[in-house]
Amino acid sequence: MIQDPQGRIIDYLRLAVTDRCNLRCQYCLPEGYKGFLPKSEILSYEELNRVLELFSAQGVSKLRITGGEPFVRRDLIFWLQEIARQKWFKRMHITTNGVLTLPHVETLERIGFEGVNLSVDSFDRENFKRITGRDELPRVMETLDALTQTRMKVRINAVVLTDHNLNDLHELVDFGTAKAVDVRFIEEMPFNGTGEVKAGVWDYRKILLHLSEAFDLIPERPEPNGTAMWYRIPGRPGRVGVIPAYSRTFCGTCNRLRIDPKGKVKTCLYGKDEIDLGRIIRQGASDNVLLASVQEAISRRHPNGKSAEREMLSDNKQHTSMASIGG
Ligand code: 5AD
Ligand code: SF4
Repeated sequence: MIQDPQGRIIDYLRLAVTDRCNLRCQYCLPEGYKGFLPKSEILSYEELNRVLELFSAQGVSKLRITGGEPFVRRDLIFWLQEIARQKWFKRMHITTNGVLTLPHVETLERIGFEGVNLSVDSFDRENFKRITGRDELPRVMETLDALTQTRMKVRINAVVLTDHNLNDLHELVDFGTAKAVDVRFIEEMPFNGTGEVKAGVWDYRKILLHLSEAFDLIPERPEPNGTAMWYRIPGRPGRVGVIPAYSRTFCGTCNRLRIDPKGKVKTCLYGKDEIDLGRIIRQGASDNVLLASVQEAISRRHPNGKSAEREMLSDNKQHTSMASIGG
């Protein structure tokens, strides 16, 4: 079992399998971004298997695959089938932008993926193009449509962007919740790869106020270890959620750990990298040494994202791109 100094049990692993992406969302990965990792530094599927087996043996029961965009990594779907066969995790989820996902929807369902989070910030084609830098909304919508025909839980993630999609939020709710899709709005965080901080303008209170102008939002009981505040709209199968990702009201029950494509471990999204599992693996470390390094990282875990961020900034580091952390 992995437990942090506050007694929080870590049973959820978020693994970013690549830092590359086929979109250029303004709040994540600026056009012309040069910081991509050389392929040789990214953990191979064999190395990832070793990491996953280790965490599974320590009681981690939920895995989320993230990126960048996971499906830009070659042969991802074959590797997902392999990890599913290993039965390391009770619950497997993936976060994707939906551009390359359509051909894999059936396989994801068949191998037991429980849920898919689709990142879509607008259902307006022009606006989608402005936000992501690419005219890919039609392919994303095809993916969404196919996902809703599976048994998998489908959620839309939309980042609330002061200058870009405020007029689209009602449509996202309207369309999503009618289709039994949960729609979650995320406060913008300062992980846009430029070091510039634009976050904190539209906080969760403001988002909720804006949504309640058009919808009757009935609060739901919070989910254990959840990050979203959930609401139901009478007569609709899908729910609406708001994630105070910048306000960070949910740190007290945080059960997650992040691994980036190189194998760097983050015990908090806002904190610095704690250890480099990739380097340790490539030095030929035994499982015991790997585990000891993970435990050491956890022993330094901050009580919340605000104090993790203070330490990171005081070390003169800056917020990186979300594409390298995986959200
Ligand atoms: N602020 C908030 N959310 C972000 N994401 C990416 N960058 C940011 C940011 N700066 C979201 C994506 C995706 C999830 C993994 O993280 O939209 O849904
Ligand atoms: Fe790509 Fe997701 Fe970042 Fe957009 S938010 S650039 S889809 S990784």
